[in-house]
Amino acid sequence: MRLDILTIFPQMFDGAFNHSIIQRAIKKGLVEIHLHNIRDYSKSKHLNVDDYPFGGSSGMVMMIQPIADCIEKLKSERAYDEIIFMTPDGERLNQPIVNQLSMKENLILLCGHYKGIDERIRDQYITREISIGDYVLSGGELAAAVLTDSLIRLIPGALSDETSALSDSFQDGLLSPPVYTRPADYNGHKVPAILLSGNEKEIRKWNYEQALERTRKRRPDLLEGQGDS
Ligand code: 6GU
Repeated sequence: MRLDILTIFPQMFDGAFNHSIIQRAIKKGLVEIHLHNIRDYSKSKHLNVDDYPFGGSSGMVMMIQPIADCIEKLKSERAYDEIIFMTPDGERLNQPIVNQLSMKENLILLCGHYKGIDERIRDQYITREISIGDYVLSGGELAAAVLTDSLIRLIPGALSDETSALSDSFQDGLLSPPVYTRPADYNGHKVPAILLSGNEKEIRKWNYEQALERTRKRRPDLLEGQGDS
């Protein structure tokens, strides 16, 4: 998978991708992340990337030219499966969308700022618009980092224990069951005896029941929404 991230704040991604799972995936050649500073494509005298909105509303709007030039250059080099605009008015991200996108080869993630981007960018280039939740961030960068992380951990070989992505919360439409590690008794707080029993079938059943119970209590909407994508 190749991710091209278009942003006016490339340095915002330094920390986000500087941890073991993403670094291992990059080192293994499972994913390439290319950051593009939109400002590098500006042709204006002062390297502007934004301008006042027509019609006189408040805030600044990201201009077409630098973004269009950057996207055109990338598109001339390879075919992209999706050109995604990270925006709070996009489709809300969930695990089925992450699963679907994780099977793509080449993705562009465009991070917006200010009041938004010139609508003509969306009309001409954007194939998909994604939000990470119903709240407003200062820009699309953190959202793009969230999407990137969720994608990379699904690439086979990115996680050391490949099965662990399958047991993630949401992968089967349920939250994850509680987990425990040593000691089995911490100042009288004991691990459920079933987990120490060695009876794999009973343990699987217990885990499933716990997941179901936790989902019922915390996220009943996930159970009602069975079948939604
Ligand atoms: Cl993708 N961008 C911004 N600016 N705010 C958001 C978001 C994206 N998703 C949720 N809030």
